[in-house]
Parts: sequence; C-alpha cells; structure tokens
Amino acid sequence: MPLFAKKDETKVDYSRLPQHIAIIMDGNGRWAKGRGLPRTAGHAAGAETFRTIATYCREIGIKYLTVYAFSTENWKRPMAEVSAIMGLLKKYLMEAIRDMEKEKVRFVFFGDLTPLPAELRELAEETQARSAVYEGCQVNICLNYGGRDEILRAARALAAECAEGKRSPEELTEEDVSNCLWSAGIPDPDLVIRPSGEERISNFLLWQSAYAEYYFTDVCWPDFDKEELRKALAAYQSRSRRFGGV
Ligand code: FPP
Repeated sequence: MPLFAKKDETKVDYSRLPQHIAIIMDGNGRWAKGRGLPRTAGHAAGAETFRTIATYCREIGIKYLTVYAFSTENWKRPMAEVSAIMGLLKKYLMEAIRDMEKEKVRFVFFGDLTPLPAELRELAEETQARSAVYEGCQVNICLNYGGRDEILRAARALAAECAEGKRSPEELTEEDVSNCLWSAGIPDPDLVIRPSGEERISNFLLWQSAYAEYYFTDVCWPDFDKEELRKALAAYQSRSRRFGGV
C-alpha cells in the first residue's frame, strides 16, 4: 500500500479510504466515437479500465467495489451492442475464474440474471459460488440491474410476508428493506463515481446511495485511470459527511 504520493500524483490519505466505492462506467460510446471507432470498441476499452481499477482498488484496500455493467434499460440498445457487452462479460468472468486463486476477489452479481444468455448466467453463478470463500475485496457487478426494480422486488417480498401474516406492515423497518435488496449484508456505498460529464443517477443503487458522496468528472470511462481514481478519493476526503446531522 503506497504511504506517500509519488511526484505528480494526487495525494490520498490511504488510512481514510471509503469502504465502498460504486461506479457508473459511462462514456464508452462517446470515447469510441471520438476516435472514429465502433461503440463496441469503447466497451472493450471500458472492460480493460474495469480490470485496472478493480485491481487498484484491491491493492489499496477498498473493501467493496460495485460497478454498473448492464442496466434493466440497456436491453433497448441495438442487439449487436448488447451481444458485444455480454461477450465481454463472458470473457472477463472466464478470466476471473482462472485468476481466482491468486486474486482472492469475491464476485457478487446484483440483478435478475434470468433473462441473460444461459452460458453467461451459468458463468456468473459459478463465479459467485466459487469466489464466495474469499474475503479480501468484494466486487459487485450490476447486471440487468435497476434500482427501482430492486426496490419493487423488496416491496413485493415484504408485502407477501405481510399477506401471509408472518409480519405486520407497522413493524417493518428500513433494515428489513435493506435486507431484501441484492446488496443485503454489505455497507452502503460511501462514494459514487460517474465519469463522462453526465450528472445523473440513472437508476443506480437508489436506496443504498441515500448518504453517498457523488463525484463527477468529464473523463470518459475508458480513460479513467488510477490517477483519476486518486482524484476522486482526494475529493471524497475533502468533504465533510454529516449524515443529516450538523
Ligand atoms: C455505458 O457507456 C456503458 C455500458 C452500458 C456498458 C458497460 C460495460 C462494460 C464496461 C464492459 C463489461 C463490463 C465488465 C464488468 C467486464 P455508454 O455506452 O452509455 O457510453 P455513451 O454514453 O458514451 O454512449
């Protein structure tokens, strides 16, 4: 773990890192367009950035990293683009399984995997099951994920328990809702990063981000490197989190 910043590096206090970072990996398409490349080339470059940033987060001691890989709305994209993203995920999961022993990263998927191509779904389930024993760093991959969909599922599950007489509506707590989400059992994100100049939440971790700090940058995701992450960490550390207090 680097204790001192190298020359020209943004200074970060590595003893005060966020526990959980969440990232909307945005701007792949625009990055590719700017270079006269097909959008799929942007996703391929974005997948490489994911590898770099996930590795760096593990190295510096970030406990949880959550990335938005495919939303419930992304099915509206051209079929060729959807297939390219699924293909990249397959490639990265196969590599993750190969490197698992060495990396010791736990992978968890947030989202309903049912509509995914069977091969990808099985790979995701296998990766999650085989990596469950690792405790160093947890990478959550949001796949066919939507924040509203997640909250709706929780509401349905709790309503069903009430209808069955197992619980009563007045007794329900925020913790009960949290426990029905894909993220059950893990701390809320401290820092949510969105690159590419967009300043929207786009249905990402709506419940969990209630007190998250947001960091926006104009850099497109394929160009988001370790130094960009250090800038985000430094910005996070410069803020005063009051959680509604004074
Ligand atoms: C948003 O950029 C990006 C996506 C919808 C796909 C993200 C997928 C990857 C980075 C590849 C696979 C992921 C992993 C975890 C290996 P955009 O296409 O909306 O960009 P634009 O706004 O410039 O069009």
